[in-house]
Amino acid sequence: MMSAKFRTIKGVQDILPPRTCLWQRVEDAAKRIFSLYGFSEIRTPIIEFTELFVRSIGEDTDIVEKEMYTFHDRAGRSITLRPEGTASVVRAFIQNNLYNLPAPQKFYYCGPMFRYERPQKGRYRQFHQIGVEAFSIDDPYLEAELIEMLWLLLEELGMENLNTEVNSIGCPECRPDYKKKLLNYLEGNLGSLCADCKRRYRHNPLRVFDCKFPNCKEIITGAPKITEFLCENCGDHFKRFLSYLKKLDIPYSINPSMVRGLDYYTRTVFEITTTSLGAQNAVAAGGRYDTLVEEFGGPRTPAAGFAIGMERLITLLEEKPFEPPKPDVYIISLGEDATDVAYTIASSLRREGLQAELSYGTGSLKSQLRRADRFNASLALIIGEDELKRGTLTCKRLSDGFQGEIKMTGLVSDIKRYLNHDQDT
Ligand code: HAM
Repeated sequence: MMSAKFRTIKGVQDILPPRTCLWQRVEDAAKRIFSLYGFSEIRTPIIEFTELFVRSIGEDTDIVEKEMYTFHDRAGRSITLRPEGTASVVRAFIQNNLYNLPAPQKFYYCGPMFRYERPQKGRYRQFHQIGVEAFSIDDPYLEAELIEMLWLLLEELGMENLNTEVNSIGCPECRPDYKKKLLNYLEGNLGSLCADCKRRYRHNPLRVFDCKFPNCKEIITGAPKITEFLCENCGDHFKRFLSYLKKLDIPYSINPSMVRGLDYYTRTVFEITTTSLGAQNAVAAGGRYDTLVEEFGGPRTPAAGFAIGMERLITLLEEKPFEPPKPDVYIISLGEDATDVAYTIASSLRREGLQAELSYGTGSLKSQLRRADRFNASLALIIGEDELKRGTLTCKRLSDGFQGEIKMTGLVSDIKRYLNHDQDT
C-alpha cells in the first residue's frame, strides 16, 4: 500500500483515460460553440494577489471567509489560488487595456479552480470550470444569448433534465432599500439564525440566502422577494431578459431566493440545474456584474458571464454509453526482422492519419492477438517470416474475424477498405 504522503490530497483527483476523452469532447464542443458567438480564449494565471478575490467576491462570502487557498510567498505577499475565473479576467481586462478592443469584448477560459470546501460528490477542492465573460453590453439580450449558448452546448452533449433558474438582484440604486426590508425581516427572526448568519446579516444580509442550515433556509423562504423591490430600470431589464428567453425558446423558472454566493453580481443571475446530480445540482451558473470593472479602476463597463462545473458535467455525461477511441490497427510481428518492418509500417500508417498500436514484437502470436483484442483494435496486421518473404501482411478484422493477405505496397488503401467493411475485402 502506498504511503499516504504519495497519494492525492483530500478533495482533489486524477483525471484518467478514457475519462479524459470526455473532458476533451466537452472542451472541443465548448470552444467550437463559443467561437460561433465571438468568444476568444484568455489564459490568466492560477495565482493572484489575495486582495483581488477578497474585493471582488466579497469579504462576507463563504468563498472568501472559509474556502480560499491562501499562502504567503517568499517575499511575504499574500497569494491565493484562484477560486473562480471572473475576478482574474476582469483584472486582465483592465491591466491589458482590453476595453480598447472593439466592443463587445468576449473571452472564454478553461482550467482548475480551488476552494477549500467539504468534499462530496460533485464538490471538490480542485475542480475545473469552463467560463465565459462578455464586456461592454448593457442590453439584457446578452444574458439571454449567454444562456442560449450554454443550452446549445449542453444539448449538443446530449444533456437532459435541465432547468434554468433566473432572478434579478437589482443594482446599487435599488438594492440598499431591499436590504433594509430584508434586515427588518431578519431581525424578527434573529434568534433562529445560525452563528454565521447572525454575524453576517447586518453587514451583508443577502448572504443569508446562501446558508445551508435548514433553519436559516426556512426563515429565508418567508423573506421579502427582491424582484418586488427592483427600480424601474432593473425591473425593465429583467422583463426584457425574460422576454428574450421566451423568444429563444429557453425554458426557465424564476427563483426569487437565488442571489448567488458571490458579491459582484448586479441585476440578472442564473443557474442551470439538473435533477440528476443530487445535492450539488448546479451544472453552470453566472450573471451580470456591471460595476466590477469600475470598482477595480477600469472604465464603466457592463459585463456578464457564466462558468460550467466540468466535473458535474462529466458525471452527467458518464451516465450515457461512451466509447473511448480505439486503435484502427494493432501491428503484430514475429521475429526481429518483422518487428523492424512493423515499426516502418506503423510510422507510415500514422502519417496517413490512422491510429496504429504496436506489439513491439513481444510474445507469441496468440498473446499478441489477445492484446490486440484488449486494445479493442479494429484490425490486427500480422507480419511473420512467411509474410516477410512474400512482401505481404495478414490483415484480420477483429469484429468478425474476416482475414486476408494484403501487399505491403499500397497498404493504406487496403487497410482503409478493411476498416470500411467494403464488399470486396
Ligand atoms: P460559481 O457558482 O461559484 O460561479 O461556480 C460555477 C460552477 O462551478 C458551479 O455551478 C458548479 O458547477 C461549479 N463548482 C463550483 N464550486 C465547485 C466545487 N467545489 N466542486 C465542483 N464544482 C464546483 C462562479 O465561479 C462565477 N465565476 C461564474 C461567473 C462567471 N459569473 C459570471 N461570470
